[in-house]
Amino acid sequence: MSIHTAPHTAPPTSSTPPAGSAPSPGSAPHPGARPTAAATLARCRDLVEPALRRAVRELHPGPRRIASHAFGWCETDGTPRAGGGGKGVRQAFVVLGAEAAGAPAGAAVPGAVAIELIHTFSLMHDDIMDGDGRRRHRDSAWKAFGTGPALLAGDALFALGVRTLAEVGGARGGEAIGQLTSMLGELVHGQADDELFESRPWSGDTAVGLGEYRAMAERKTGALLGCAAALGPVLAGAPPRVTDALGRAGRQWGLAFQAVDDVLGIWGEPGITGKPAYSDLRRAKKTLPVLGAMAQDPSLGPRLDRLLAADGALDPACLRRAADLVEKAGGRAYALREARARVAAGRDHLRAVPLAGPAVDELVALSDLFLNRQR
Ligand code: IPE
Ligand code: MG
Ligand code: MG
Repeated sequence: MSIHTAPHTAPPTSSTPPAGSAPSPGSAPHPGARPTAAATLARCRDLVEPALRRAVRELHPGPRRIASHAFGWCETDGTPRAGGGGKGVRQAFVVLGAEAAGAPAGAAVPGAVAIELIHTFSLMHDDIMDGDGRRRHRDSAWKAFGTGPALLAGDALFALGVRTLAEVGGARGGEAIGQLTSMLGELVHGQADDELFESRPWSGDTAVGLGEYRAMAERKTGALLGCAAALGPVLAGAPPRVTDALGRAGRQWGLAFQAVDDVLGIWGEPGITGKPAYSDLRRAKKTLPVLGAMAQDPSLGPRLDRLLAADGALDPACLRRAADLVEKAGGRAYALREARARVAAGRDHLRAVPLAGPAVDELVALSDLFLNRQR
């Protein structure tokens, strides 16, 4: 399967329909007018960031400083700085989901703010759990401010995210909160499995299987991207089948995102990813390239167990050797193949329902970015 799937083939829609109206199924190609993924991310950031900054200003000064640092708005000492936060994919999913459902982008803003707050909370706590001291080319929150303050800042972002969405009110707000809280339960479940899997061996009866990995990844990463894609249509009052289709697409793209994240976690260039090299292997994280390689070459598991036992996991030469073994057994290609298939599956979900074409084109361009990203 190639990275690029066939373009959508439905006839062009001339204007954005109102929420809940029914343009023809699938998206339309818009030759010449299709914005790049970078332009889409910038447009969505410009729309969401003022409301995000207003929300963060409400926090206690301690957690506010840590949150502002995590968003890339300031240095550790509070000095303002320009740019440097995350890619902003999740907030863009919320905005594009609303537009795909025929609503104006503004309807998505509380959902996009909530998703960015929750995403940042999850990364802050994730870096503590994973022991990762670097994120986005900077010290992670616990490294820069201490574990206690970083935990609390994560809690503050979590609470603010839920509150932001609760303030929408009405039936749409209630539905949105329901989606957000069930996603949070899944995310915690996925993170708990991810952490538990670290202590299971690479080989033998208790080794982690690919099915277990996929369920874990769908929960820890797919659920948040699925929720991001579904919140826009929920806030736009779109029919359930539109919301479901976007949610399912987001989940598939979340799995693609995680598959590529797993690849970058082993072969990514730390100077580009902004994260430490080999940290997943060092912690015996059960990631897709390794499990995929073991499915193709069962002798790999026992070799990894020997290589990464005790001190091996701390030795850069052993980690490099493990990465080479995984690559030779086809693990990297396996994970990238799966990422491409997930991106295509996400697009199929969108073809099945009536959506506004231009926003779907932008979502599809973002899903391409997942495959080609280096960070
Ligand atoms: C992060 O998973 C998932 C959540 C924060 C819920 P990872 O631990 O695999 O992601 P990175 O590599 O640290 O970003
Ligand atoms: Mg991590
Ligand atoms: Mg993690």
